[in-house]
Amino acid sequence: MSSRILLTGGAGYVGSHTYVALVDAGHEVVILDNFSNARRSVPDRLAQITGRPVQVIDGDVRDAGLLSRTLVDQEIEAVVHFAALKAVGESMARPLDYFDVNVGGLTNLLRAMETAGCRRIVFSSSATVYGVPDETPTPETAALRAMNPYGQTKIMSEQMLGWLRQSNPDWAVGTLRYFNPAGAHGSALIGEDPRDIPNNLMPLVAKVAMGELERISVYGDDYDTPDGTGVRDYIHVEDLARGHVLSLQSLLDTGESHLVNLGTGRGHSVLEVIAAYKRACNRDLPYTLADRRPGDVPVYVASADKAAEVLGFRTERDIDEMCASSWAWVSNLKARA
Ligand code: UFG
Repeated sequence: MSSRILLTGGAGYVGSHTYVALVDAGHEVVILDNFSNARRSVPDRLAQITGRPVQVIDGDVRDAGLLSRTLVDQEIEAVVHFAALKAVGESMARPLDYFDVNVGGLTNLLRAMETAGCRRIVFSSSATVYGVPDETPTPETAALRAMNPYGQTKIMSEQMLGWLRQSNPDWAVGTLRYFNPAGAHGSALIGEDPRDIPNNLMPLVAKVAMGELERISVYGDDYDTPDGTGVRDYIHVEDLARGHVLSLQSLLDTGESHLVNLGTGRGHSVLEVIAAYKRACNRDLPYTLADRRPGDVPVYVASADKAAEVLGFRTERDIDEMCASSWAWVSNLKARA
């Protein structure tokens, strides 16, 4: 059944892929984005992919009046909330911005939703809430630990949603803890497009493949992992997007809340990612071994069982598909520039 959905941060990396998946699933979607970390060209690309006009509101989640008007005027039935800041290092340098946008923005949004009587929300959380995880693969029951202000804002947001549900059982919340999103849409029209020099492995490897950076620094080869480099659970962004559609559908169908990891349940080391990207781009990818990056965790791998049980969610795409789609996207981006 078709519902009217508001996507905050819908022009961003995960948001834009989720937009396509929601439209494909038959929903009517309105994007609200302030374009602080998204390109203005994204809505046109989304129109090209879906073959339909895209409705975009240029605005900020901290604007209470705008949120209230949007929810009522657009007759919104549920919200998928992506709009947030997400760089760990930046959060250490500018903690107040993170609390303001991530916690303040969510508070604002929830208040506007409560007033409008719209009580269905899918929330973008992160595996970062586990800090240094007690167990690997990490289940949703693992202890929560903030390692930096960014992680703290995700824990606080999850807790705020939990208390809100207790205050009013009409709320239904889908909390999705992402592992490491990677790859791009099959059309090569949308993908990850960081404004500054990226911090994350996959976009950095892409830049080396494009010849825009000379080499990759591999942060640490002395971890207790099979090849000594850090292991992560990379999830294809189109799989991740599908996870949001299932989460939303479950909220709309059952009115019950859920909290799940979204990952593959499989880890890949830094060297494995470089090797996979090399297969995809067929170019040499020079790297040097460097010191460990402060604050890094050796292994992050999801237990993917609960998402399978509760939402019927299983990933379909592997690391080679993530690298191939990333390569197609960055090549296309350059060709159009
Ligand atoms: N890495 C390198 N060289 C680089 C960049 C990264 O070797 O230049 C390594 C890291 O040490 C790590 C792996 O590649 O072992 C992945 O690092 P990313 O920076 O891509 O991702 P992280 O797992 O460190 O962080 C990501 C998100 C966080 C989120 C976290 C947990 O950026 O927001 O996953 O979900 F909190």
